[in-house]
Amino acid sequence: KDTITVGLLGLGTVGTGVIEILEDHKESIQHKTGSNVIIKTVLVNDMNKPRDLKNSSAQLTDRYEDITQDPEIDVIVEVMGGIDHTLQILMEAIENGKHIVTANKDLVAQHGEKLFEASQRNRCDLFYEASVAGGVPIVRSILDGLSSDRIRKMMGIVNGTTNYILTKMSKEGVDFDSVLKEAQDLGFAEADPTADVDGLDAARKMTILSILGFSMPFNLEDVEVKGIRGLSLADIEYAELLGYSVKLIGVAENDLSGVSVSVEPTLLPSEHPLSSVNDEFNAVYVYGDAVGETMFYGPGAGKLPTATAVVSDLIAVIKSLRLGTSGSAYVQPQFPKQVKAKKD
Ligand code: NDP
Ligand code: HSE
Repeated sequence: KDTITVGLLGLGTVGTGVIEILEDHKESIQHKTGSNVIIKTVLVNDMNKPRDLKNSSAQLTDRYEDITQDPEIDVIVEVMGGIDHTLQILMEAIENGKHIVTANKDLVAQHGEKLFEASQRNRCDLFYEASVAGGVPIVRSILDGLSSDRIRKMMGIVNGTTNYILTKMSKEGVDFDSVLKEAQDLGFAEADPTADVDGLDAARKMTILSILGFSMPFNLEDVEVKGIRGLSLADIEYAELLGYSVKLIGVAENDLSGVSVSVEPTLLPSEHPLSSVNDEFNAVYVYGDAVGETMFYGPGAGKLPTATAVVSDLIAVIKSLRLGTSGSAYVQPQFPKQVKAKKD
């Protein structure tokens, strides 16, 4: 198609970044895809908020059906967050033949299987690169770049907000509450920052990585999670005096006894590569039988890095529409039912 029509769900930090990138990179996107991308309709909560839609002629709505039921809309970009209501909207959209791009790790970690099943059945694409580590293309790397290998372990920093908080506490001696407020103002934190601070956001991302990397089922409830609430400036200072830094580390391992996933504040020797990952940056170390050690690093949260991943997914949808391969990319991992997640 020469014109691809998009419905955007959400116009907050990431949604405004999507509009900005589509506008600023218009020519290069057209050159790469052969298509002109138009955002037709944008779903928001509050119709009275002042908005900057750049030069886009998009219409605002607070009725999701204006997008899911619009026959002109080819692709839905979901950057509004939420779980149950958002699942219902996306399922309806997929049943109506819409391709989906989402940044919503809560939804993919909890209901990925339903979304994959519906999108494959309807030959729709479903891309979710931004759901793990913001602007770092880790989902693609695991599904495509390392697909020939057997991944054994993934470990890293996958939450930008807590890494930003820990960095500022360590380098500037700022207390937890004021630096959390800063991370919220910068657009790194979730609408409810409890998910960041208590480790649930990282647990969701590690669940997604685990399912994709090990091609096995894994339930979010089986992640052992501990967040950074309760860590004081004194804890961080003592750790540093002893030659360690404190980082919220996610680990997913697949050994002979099964898969285990955990997220917890961890003391790392200061010379460890993950010790120098600061601010909202993320890094994921992946170990595979054949490739050995690899490491992926970059901005894990924020408007433009996250929107870069979202718009790259949108470009992938357009390419598969051109090739007639919609619904076949990122095929749902085949879950071997006999393999059970490890429990203590
Ligand atoms: P924001 O809170 O900044 O924006 C959310 C947007 O969605 C707002 O425009 C809001 O409307 C709209 N919205 C929310 N709920 C509804 C609803 N029920 N009906 C209609 N509109 C709704 O969130 P972010 O942009 O930060 O995050 C969006 C998604 O991207 C989330 O899933 C998040 O986890 C994910 N993500 C975010 C990253 C980041 O760095 N911020 C990084 C990676 C992923 P209104 O403007 O009227 O309030
Ligand atoms: N709140 C998330 C974070 C956004 O801080 O990492 C990116 O997923």
